[in-house]
Order: sequence, then structure tokens, then C-alpha cells
Amino acid sequence: MGQTLGPEVDMEIFAVANQKGGCGKTTTACNLAAALALNGKKTLLIDLDPQAHASMGLGVEKDIGIYDCLSKISKNKCSLKDIIVNIGPNFDLAPSNIMLSTIDQELSDEIGRESRLQDILKDFQGAYDFCLIDCPPNLGLLTVNAIRAAHQMIIPVEASRFSVDGVQRLVEIVDLIRDRLGHKVSYRVLVNNFDSRLRHSFNVLNQIKETFGSKVFNTIVHINVKIKESQSEAKTIFAFDKYSRGAKDYFSLSREIISGEGALMEKITAAMKKIVKKKTRELLPVEFQFTGSANDSVYVVGEFNNWSLDDRSRLTKDNGIWKTQVSLKPGNYKYRFVVDGKWTEDPSNPISEKNPFGELDSILMVSDEA
Ligand SMILES: Nc1ncnc2c1ncn2[C@@H]1O[C@H](COP(=O)(O)OP(=O)(O)O)[C@@H](O)[C@H]1O
Ligand SMILES: [Mg+2]
Repeated sequence: MGQTLGPEVDMEIFAVANQKGGCGKTTTACNLAAALALNGKKTLLIDLDPQAHASMGLGVEKDIGIYDCLSKISKNKCSLKDIIVNIGPNFDLAPSNIMLSTIDQELSDEIGRESRLQDILKDFQGAYDFCLIDCPPNLGLLTVNAIRAAHQMIIPVEASRFSVDGVQRLVEIVDLIRDRLGHKVSYRVLVNNFDSRLRHSFNVLNQIKETFGSKVFNTIVHINVKIKESQSEAKTIFAFDKYSRGAKDYFSLSREIISGEGALMEKITAAMKKIVKKKTRELLPVEFQFTGSANDSVYVVGEFNNWSLDDRSRLTKDNGIWKTQVSLKPGNYKYRFVVDGKWTEDPSNPISEKNPFGELDSILMVSDEA
């Protein structure tokens, strides 16, 4: 089950929102949902965009959809469970269609119109570990409903076209919902479309980190043409090419979310942090060496770095040997190498375990005994 965030809540609800079109909301909602499902988490994706890109991107076109659950006058009026389509193991979709574009006007005089989605989801508390909501590209009633229903928002921003103002406007809406409706939502920023060939990308990344600090996910989603190709074939990136950069990035993001580091840290008060620090055992230096052959790059990613592929997880070549040092607490850690862009287990480590893709995660055992 997902981490419990409130007294009556056992499903973690994320709204993927940004009023800007084309920043990667739908891409993130679909592929993150798929990645969470691959991790064995029961996941519901709600397509809350009348353009129905998430539904189409998963090959689902239906006459009944989320509109018929939110509306009070639809001739197909039904409940959420009636519209759910199974996409794959642990992965369900509540699809959308063009009818949803009428809901804003239809509910304009309704009391509690901002809470329609939240009301619907109440009956589903125990059914899923995670629920992701793909929002439309505006700050209208549907996005407000998503924020109202969610515990957290994921705000994808494009590394190339980032504007602080755009995100700030969205955060203002979140504050408004908190003040008017007493509903508090936290948010995290996801950097998408990152092009590591451009110096400009790194400048923008620094700017985003300076502005949003720890709210920025460690995982960055790189620009990857396989993502576009997967959508045109109505598949998730995992079904299309599980070895692609896009698959790696969304899998890392799912691990980062499941480990819940960000949300948990926010909750631990300063006092608690001190106690935790005192109790934590000492960090031990660990060296990773990759003994196979590599032409260009080797990364080590695993449970100790939230499976994130970034500069800190990169190995350097020293006297012909790829290596890096990290500091870890005693314990067991699953990890894999990414060699020239391909996942591989550690050829020199005989201890391993199968992961959800049927591949092997190597296991590192760190012990404080000499
Ligand atoms: N990381 C990425 N690499 C390559 N193309 C991407 C990436 N993220 C999004 N795209 C493409 O950008 C376009 C807009 O993305 P989409 O997720 O539909 O944005 P939104 O839902 O915010 O409007 C789509 O064509 C999608 O395939
Ligand atoms: Mg979209």
C-alpha cells in the first residue's frame, strides 16, 4: 500500500499539472503510472483532459469516460468503477473524451463543484496504491478539482522553455485552494525534455534548482525521441522500448516517489531530524568498480541514490578502471550499472535478484564489521 498521508487516506493521489501545454504532463502521467505499476504498485491513471491525450496514448477511445462520473446530467451517468479500463498488470485507466469540455459550464452554479473529483475518489481509497491525474493545460475547474483531490502535485517543466512566472502562477492557485478550501497540497517540480548536449540546459537546471530547491525531483527526464515514438504507437515507453533513456528516467522517477524521500523529509520536523541523525549509524566508504568494457560512460544507480542517473552517479576512468566512491550506511542495496546507455548487472558481483523487468539487480552488502 502507498504511504498514508492523512487519517482517512491510503491511496496517494498526484495531480500532474501545469497550465502550459506541451511541457510533458501527459507523457509523465502515462509513463510514471506504468512505472509505478511495474514496481508492483496498483495504479489508477485518471485522464482529466478533454483532449484525451493520455487515453489515446494508451490506445483507449471510449464513449463513456470521466465526464459521466463528474456530471450530474449525463445520459450515461455512472460511477468511476464503470469506466475503468485495464491497461496492464496493476495499471488501470479512467479515460476521457471530448464531452469533458462541457463540465466547466455544466457545474458553474453547483455548490461544491471544486470537490467533485475528490468525492468520487473517496470510494476508492483502498483500491489503489497510487492515483495519477493528468490535468488539462489551463487553470480551470478541472485542474482545480485535481488539485483539490490530490495530496501532491507534480509540475513538469521544460528545461528549454522554463519560466518561473508560469510555475509561480500555479503555486498561487494552490495557495488559494489552501486558503479558501483548507486543503493543503505539496508540490514537486519535474525537469523534462532535458538536453544534456546543450550548455543552456545546465544553466536552466541551476536556475530551477535555485528557485525551487528541494522541491525539484532528483530524477530528470531527458529528451528522448523514443518517448514520442511510443506515443504514436499508443504504448507506454516500457512497452515500446524498456531499454530507452525515457524508460530509465521514468523508472527512476517511480523509485524516487516510492521511496518518498521528499515527502517524508518535509514531514520530519527539525527536532526529529536531530534525533534521527544521532541514531543513524556511521557512513562507510564504498567503492564501485565496473570491470566490464565500456566506450563512453558508466553510471551506477540503485537504492542508495534513488535510482537516479545524474552526474553524481557517474563513474570515472582511473588507470583504465571505471570507479566511483560513495558513502553508505550498513545495509543491503540493489543496484545496476548503465554502460554506454544500456542497463547491466555488475559482472563481478555474483549476488543478484530478479527485478520487475525480469532482469537482475546486483546486491551490495555494506557491513560495519571489519
Ligand atoms: N522527454 C521527452 N522527450 C521527447 N519528447 C517529449 C518528452 N516529453 C514530452 N515529449 C513530447 O512533447 C509533446 C508534448 O508532451 P505532452 O506530455 O503531451 O505535454 P502536455 O500534456 O503537458 O501538453 C508530445 O509530443 C511528447 O511526445
Ligand atoms: Mg496533456
